[in-house]
Formats: sequence, C-alpha cells, structure tokens
Amino acid sequence: MSDNFFRFHDLFAQLGLPNSRDAIAAFLNQHRPLPNDVLLADADFWDESQAQFIREKKLEDSPEWTQLIDQLSEALRENSGNRNMFGTCRVLALSGSLRHSSFNTALARSAQAMAPQGMNIEVATLHGIPLYDADLEASEGIPAAVLKLKAQILDADALLMVTPEYNNGVPGVFKNGIDWLSRADMKAVFAKRPTGMIGASMGGFGTLSSQAAWLPTLKMLGVTLYSGNSVLVSRAQNAFDAQGELMDDSSRKNLSAYLNGFNEFVQLIKIAKLKSR
Ligand SMILES: Cc1cc2nc3c(=O)[nH]c(=O)nc-3n(C[C@H](O)[C@H](O)[C@H](O)COP(=O)(O)O)c2cc1C
Repeated sequence: MSDNFFRFHDLFAQLGLPNSRDAIAAFLNQHRPLPNDVLLADADFWDESQAQFIREKKLEDSPEWTQLIDQLSEALRENSGNRNMFGTCRVLALSGSLRHSSFNTALARSAQAMAPQGMNIEVATLHGIPLYDADLEASEGIPAAVLKLKAQILDADALLMVTPEYNNGVPGVFKNGIDWLSRADMKAVFAKRPTGMIGASMGGFGTLSSQAAWLPTLKMLGVTLYSGNSVLVSRAQNAFDAQGELMDDSSRKNLSAYLNGFNEFVQLIKIAKLKSR
C-alpha cells in the first residue's frame, strides 16, 4: 500500500483529506469498490467542493492532477488488483486490551488500514463483557456484549486475535472474553474458524510468550490457526506515534506480509469449503 501513499499524498491534501499512509489506505478500503458505471467525481463520498475539484481538473485535462485522479479512480474499482477469486475476505480483528490508548487496539486499526485489496477488517474490543461467573450465566444467560461479539465473529470469514502479553502469558481480560464466547457456542464461534494472532507489547520479545501461551486454548477451541509468519511488535512505546499509527518500518513490513499471507489462507479455506459442498 505504500505506493498508494506516495501517489496520493498530494491529491489527498488538495482534497482536504487526511493523507497519512494509514489514512489513505483506510479511505481506499472504506470506499472500495466504486461501481464501474459511477464516475469518480459522482461518488457519494465527496463533498461538493471535492467533487467540483475533480470535475474541473478532468475537464481542464490538467497535467498535474488528471493522472492522479485517474489512478485514484482505478484504485477504487472492484477489480483493481483484487486477487481474491471468491469475493471480499471479511475479518474481525479483536483487541485483547481495554485500555483507551492500547497498542493492541492501535495494531488492530493499523491492520484495518493496511488490509490488502480484497480483505476488509473490522475492529472489535471486549468492552462491556463481565467477569465469567457460572452463577451469572445460570441466572441471566450469556451477556449482551458477548452475544454481540459472537454475532460479529459469525458474520466474518475469519478472526484475527490481537493479543497483549501479561507476565509472559495470556492477559486475563482477553481469556475471559474468549471463555465467555466458548460458553455462547464454542462450535459455531470457533470450530474450524480461520484464525490469526498478532500482538504488541512493551517488552523486547513482543508477545512471543503470550502468543505461545494461547496455543493450548486455541487447540481446545478447534480453530484453524494461520501460522505462516508472525507479528510480534516489541517495544510498542517506540513503534507507534501519538495518534496510534504504526510508524516502525519493519513492523509495518511484517504486518503487511502477515496480512497478505492471512488473506491467501482464508481464501484457500473458503475455496475448500465451496468445493466440499
Ligand atoms: C500485569 C502486566 C503484566 C505485563 N507483563 C508483560 C510481559 O510479560 N511482557 C511484556 O512485553 N510486557 C508486559 N506488560 C506491559 C505491556 O506490554 C503493556 O502494558 C502494553 O501496553 C499492554 O498492551 P496494550 O497497550 O494493548 O494495553 C505487562 C503489563 C501489565 C499491566
């Protein structure tokens, strides 16, 4: 996606849009696909002055802007570099931290912004889920926040767990959420669900231990785990900027490679499922 950053940086500024790497990637993800029969200037996501700028520059055939406008139009179309044969791959990225400025929620948002073409990532958190209590379950059933999360997972093609690390292990908050979800319907929510795991921590080993500590639980849940490569963002306090954007180049490269691999993995599972019908 970085070539989109270099291509569209000035055009986005001219249109009054945020033009950081993540902002450009998020814009493309949010507004793609633009139907082929809709001119870029007629898209409903522009305000009047943006639409007018695009129209005018196209009419003038302005050398400075026309090529960029055409490239943006192309980048927003369905078939623009879309390698997915079976439609968009929808992923729910679940952050395991409740913290407002969580590095893991920021990592989930970076994944959302950097998702490869054909992959759409929605970000969810564990807010509102109480501590697991079998008495509460018996008296009131599964809490609404758990049911909402369950529905979001069922609606997606794949789950991407974004885990912090506490004391070299799994954070209790995240495990609690997963335990509740297993009570909501372990088979439907987890069995054979394509699942990825990434994470960020402030230590030097960047969630290496917590990701390993999750393995027995993931095996118990029966997920189909993507293990193609790893995203272990270490020293997270230096990897993100104050706005929560992932700035560290090698972490961005890793995340991008991970998402590409995860996209292919989920697509292959979708194809296998279709074939077995
Ligand atoms: C109880 C506790 C234990 C922690 N243990 C570790 C650890 O084992 N390894 C590590 O790299 N960071 C550890 N940290 C620091 C976390 O990486 C840091 O708090 C991080 O910001 C948590 O993720 P978040 O920003 O998404 O909330 C620990 C933090 C807490 C609160």
